[in-house]
Amino acid sequence: MDVVKAAIPHRQPSIDRLVELASSDMSGVDAIIRGRMQSPVSVIPALADHIIDAGGKRLRPLLAVVAARLAGARGDSSLKLAAAVEFIHTATLLHDDVVDGSRLRRGKVAAHLIWGAPSSVLVGDFLFARAFELMVETGSMRAMDILARASRVIAEGEVLQLTRAHDLGLSQATYLEIISAKTAELFAAAAEAGAVAGGASAAQCAALRAYGLNLGLAFQLADDALDYGGVTETLGKNAGDDFREGKATLPLLLAIARTGPREVDFWERAIGRKEQTDADFRRARELIVGAGALEATLDLAAEYAENAKAALAVFPGNEWRHGLESLADFSVSRRA
Ligand code: IPE
Ligand code: IPE
Ligand code: MG
Ligand code: MG
Repeated sequence: MDVVKAAIPHRQPSIDRLVELASSDMSGVDAIIRGRMQSPVSVIPALADHIIDAGGKRLRPLLAVVAARLAGARGDSSLKLAAAVEFIHTATLLHDDVVDGSRLRRGKVAAHLIWGAPSSVLVGDFLFARAFELMVETGSMRAMDILARASRVIAEGEVLQLTRAHDLGLSQATYLEIISAKTAELFAAAAEAGAVAGGASAAQCAALRAYGLNLGLAFQLADDALDYGGVTETLGKNAGDDFREGKATLPLLLAIARTGPREVDFWERAIGRKEQTDADFRRARELIVGAGALEATLDLAAEYAENAKAALAVFPGNEWRHGLESLADFSVSRRA
């Protein structure tokens, strides 16, 4: 484990100040989420409460409310959109855990293992529908357009990834296309929708969208590194899930390229043909760490985080902007 730990940087930038600044907005978002997860069909609030009560980092709604404040919002204009964004995210997690066969989410048994895959998928649909109700209530066609498009792009990303699992020859360009769609698009949409709600100018909306997209890429690259370099207890999800599913993420693709013909039989068996033993994940992790693939993945994540910060140059250097800068650093160095 030491070699793995050493591959993950120790400095963890704090987003405490940003969380504190946005705490009143985020309490408002939480109240909307709690209210709108209700339904007379009792399995819906039970299952929704299971995943929502576990918390999660709430980064996407945070991004929406902070983008609105940075754009000069005075009132509560972004809160419903922020709640809608978190509902979309939660719906994708319920669906994603069924698709990925993941057993742990936010430190708890995945919902589909308690209520079954059909209920998990259908409650995911319920949360999507709630998100759309909230968006309509805001009356903003632009925000609706941004979030509707993001929902479609996420689905495209998840399906594209599914069709490219076990593909040892996946190009880095296609990998980036997948993570851009399945993850970065919602970060971009959250920031852009927040900006719209805050009355931002066209240039500010574009800047916040670019910030969100780059942040999302950094976030997913770090997530893919954590699947090999992280610890299940801290992550709240099982390390090694990507390997067991044969997901062609960047750490794996780099290690395959860097270990060359020497390990081709191992990669072809474990990923290409999905014939794995319990010891294979440890072996893969050693090869990935030994090949420097985690550092390279995190280096690329850090580049996207720098791009994200650079996109904020159109804004004055106030605490909202500094908060978003710390969020970019946090996304790369996080452990959970
Ligand atoms: C998990 O996102 C899905 C990915 C894009 C990797 P988060 O890590 O933001 O999940 P929660 O909401 O904090 O649980
Ligand atoms: C994250 O997918 C993106 C979505 C859930 C749409 P992953 O499968 O990479 O995320 P985790 O590792 O399950 O959180
Ligand atoms: Mg998953
Ligand atoms: Mg993952």
